[in-house]
Amino acid sequence: MRRRNFLKLSGSATLFTLYGGIGWFLESCKKKGMDMAKSISVVTGNFDNPLRILPIINGASPINFTSKRNNTSLIKGKTSTVLGYADDILAPVIRVNNGQTVSINLQNELEEITNVHWHGLIVPENMDGHPQNKIAPGSSFNFKFTINQKASTNWFHPHSHMLTGKQVFKGLAGMFIVNDAEEAALNLPTGEFEIPLIIQDKRIYSDGSINYSPESMDVMSGYFGQYICVNGSWSAYHNIQTKIYRLRLLNASNARVYNLSLSNGINFNVIGSDGGLLGSTQTVNNLLLSPGERLDVLVNFSSLSVGAEFYLQSNLFNGGESQGSETFKIMKFNVTQKVTETFSIPTALATFSPISSSLSIKTRTFDIANNSGAHTAMNMNMGSMSSMHKIGGKSFNMDRIDETVNAGTTEVWEFDNSNGTDLHPMHLHGVHFQVYSRVGGRGAIQPHETGWKDTVLCMPGEKVQIIMTFPNNPGKFVFHCHNLEHADSGMMLNYKII
Ligand code: C2O
Ligand code: CU
Ligand code: CU
Repeated sequence: MRRRNFLKLSGSATLFTLYGGIGWFLESCKKKGMDMAKSISVVTGNFDNPLRILPIINGASPINFTSKRNNTSLIKGKTSTVLGYADDILAPVIRVNNGQTVSINLQNELEEITNVHWHGLIVPENMDGHPQNKIAPGSSFNFKFTINQKASTNWFHPHSHMLTGKQVFKGLAGMFIVNDAEEAALNLPTGEFEIPLIIQDKRIYSDGSINYSPESMDVMSGYFGQYICVNGSWSAYHNIQTKIYRLRLLNASNARVYNLSLSNGINFNVIGSDGGLLGSTQTVNNLLLSPGERLDVLVNFSSLSVGAEFYLQSNLFNGGESQGSETFKIMKFNVTQKVTETFSIPTALATFSPISSSLSIKTRTFDIANNSGAHTAMNMNMGSMSSMHKIGGKSFNMDRIDETVNAGTTEVWEFDNSNGTDLHPMHLHGVHFQVYSRVGGRGAIQPHETGWKDTVLCMPGEKVQIIMTFPNNPGKFVFHCHNLEHADSGMMLNYKII
């Protein structure tokens, strides 16, 4: 395989520096026809594998999780070795009401350190899973915090620097749902009509276990897999009734962005983004969902007939060098039961007010393009890719405080990918923001971005501004690209709320 030979050749830092850094490297990849993601084509199956329905546990009672190796089935008829927080891949879905205190004990039965970040939850500094917090193999940590935020679809995953990509890819992740009274008043679909869908691509060895072995090109573009799993089921189907369903969509892939649509043309009615319900329902035909982002959508299947079949799929999009060049099916829905639907999709959802830019006391700009200029000092040694990706010219240093902000103040942060050729989903811990503007690329705030967010997709050519008021929650938090190979190779900084 040409790729292997090439990597052997480029495997030393000296060679890499000698030939002029990333520009040469990218040129070389192109010459050899290795267009990154294009070398990993999605494999489509028969969609005869029943969708794994994740168990739901009530966060009001103490929870015990163990990060460990499990055997399960991702591909029908095959046993896979994966990681999970209970006895399967992923974790049970945690559901809590706003105001509740949750206590989650994590026992680490991995052979390496881990920790947990509660992505989307505003928790004290020492509970947030900063990479400096390490749970050693064989030991445990008790996470305890009180929920003080709106109804929302959040998630959790390991966050140990340079191990995050590996541990998430092998199966450590879960969904964390917050409910509140404002949401309850909408009487949204519940029970079997509310389905968490965790979308992830996996690279799988022939023995069924998950392969995580990134080479330079994988670190450049992010690690992709050819098997698209939903809740840990590849080529899955789900039987539905002629009802309105609430789908809680989470992209927990390391790097892959999906341009979601339904193959029968049915629209998505977006009711929530990362941080909670939107002010009003946004009806769209397709949705770009990048790693780390969540979407809460209502889909109306009530006019379908029994026997109808359709797919959740991903369509082509303009995603720069490594993404969007393929259309593929993700999972199948089979209509198996005709029932009468009495619920109708609400228009007004929750109180939501845009933060006025007149409140902002400061604008901070971060170059996230990671073009050749930003890469000159890069070390391409195969064993140490710790500074391949940067934010504002800096790569992650656990102890350095890169930005300091004051609790209670409002700021605008700008992620500038104008000169970039790759996309970057930018995520902030410790705060919820609103998307304030987008110039270049798509040139506009998307309908599904009109609510509270913690992760925003910055396409090549785009400059995206976000606005936020920092909570009274002092401490050191990270912000980073949620392409986990980018984050693990340095695209993460610290900021401190004082
Ligand atoms: Cu889900 Cu720091 O990330
Ligand atoms: Cu987070
Ligand atoms: Cu990135």
